[in-house]
Amino acid sequence: MSTTPARFTRPTAEPTGENEVRNSPLEVRPPTPDALCIESPLASLETAVTPTSHFFVRNHFAVPHIDLRDWRLAIEGEVDRPLLLTYEEIRNLPHRPLRALIECAGNSRSSVRPHPEGVLWRNGAVGTAEWVGTPLRDLLERAKIRPGAVEVLFEGLDHGKEPGLDAEISYGMSITADKALDPDTLLVDEMNGQPLSARHGFPLRAIVPGWYGMASVKWLSRIVVLQQPFEGYFRTRAYAFISEGESAEARHRPVTSVRVKSLVTWPKEGSVLAPGAHRIRGVAWSGVGRIARVEVSIGGLRESLEEETWLPAVLSEPESRHAWTHWEFARELTRPGFYVIRARATDEKGNTQPLEAKWNFRGLGNNSVHQVPLEVRAKASPRAK
Ligand code: MTE
Repeated sequence: MSTTPARFTRPTAEPTGENEVRNSPLEVRPPTPDALCIESPLASLETAVTPTSHFFVRNHFAVPHIDLRDWRLAIEGEVDRPLLLTYEEIRNLPHRPLRALIECAGNSRSSVRPHPEGVLWRNGAVGTAEWVGTPLRDLLERAKIRPGAVEVLFEGLDHGKEPGLDAEISYGMSITADKALDPDTLLVDEMNGQPLSARHGFPLRAIVPGWYGMASVKWLSRIVVLQQPFEGYFRTRAYAFISEGESAEARHRPVTSVRVKSLVTWPKEGSVLAPGAHRIRGVAWSGVGRIARVEVSIGGLRESLEEETWLPAVLSEPESRHAWTHWEFARELTRPGFYVIRARATDEKGNTQPLEAKWNFRGLGNNSVHQVPLEVRAKASPRAK
């Protein structure tokens, strides 16, 4: 069998009106006090770019009120020439577009057993947007970043109490100095052709493509170049892989790159399909490389995962290094009964999805194979596609 998959081109980059109707409303997850957590229905992941109205939201605290007249971005720490910039000054810097995906590290937490700590996202805490911004690297070079820099800390203006903490904290997250100097790491002021909305980080946010969403800090106020790794709550507790029974370092690792993953976007879990030919659809991504292949298996409810037959899906042309790849899989489902569709992606570095989630205390980075149970039944609705 050929290792180069056939590819198709998605007909439109923007969602159609039909999608808008089919995808609403968004689902709200139970928030911690003042927080806002909204996930996208899987049907709204079928377009190249997720409309802002349908893009997931993950806010730990209330959206801060920001008056642009007072707002400044400070760049300081291990730099020879600290900067303090107004919104106007940032808008006048050279900008570039970047189509990139963000996935929350807690996405798909609800399918981890036993249930870990945190918001029980299903699979919709992921989206791709067209961002416009200025490379962080340009500003770090202008500020004369020192050679000893190890990490770069982003501080947001939002603050509040996290569950289990007595004192208020503000949102802060660091990335490695290498990632901060990557030309694709941007300070962004536009999303999908509009200035950032309040809930997505107005006036300025980081976009760190390839890393889980916690690094794309919103409502930025300060960027601090550090000589030591940042030890704040969000870096070492909220977004760290914490597990038992391994060496001290392995037990406590910061969350960074997005793991390879795919989701079935059609049919929905629990669907009833008419017997006939069906085109199964989905989406796949990885933070460390292109999607090399997606395999689909359609098995019975009780079949063990190892026994299944995995067949290649047809992939869409990737639209950007940091965006997702859509896929399709045509199959005759003529025999009435109960089935489970499973999809498994592999990236160009050879990373592939595990069949089961590896447990950690916060259920982070769950990229286990998506499983969609459904029934094929005569006279069922919706009709075969
Ligand atoms: N930045 C600030 N200041 N406060 C936050 O709560 N949440 C982070 C990140 N940036 C967060 C933040 C997390 S966990 C994710 S997944 C992304 O924002 C979500 O971005 P979105 O809400 O624009 O989709």
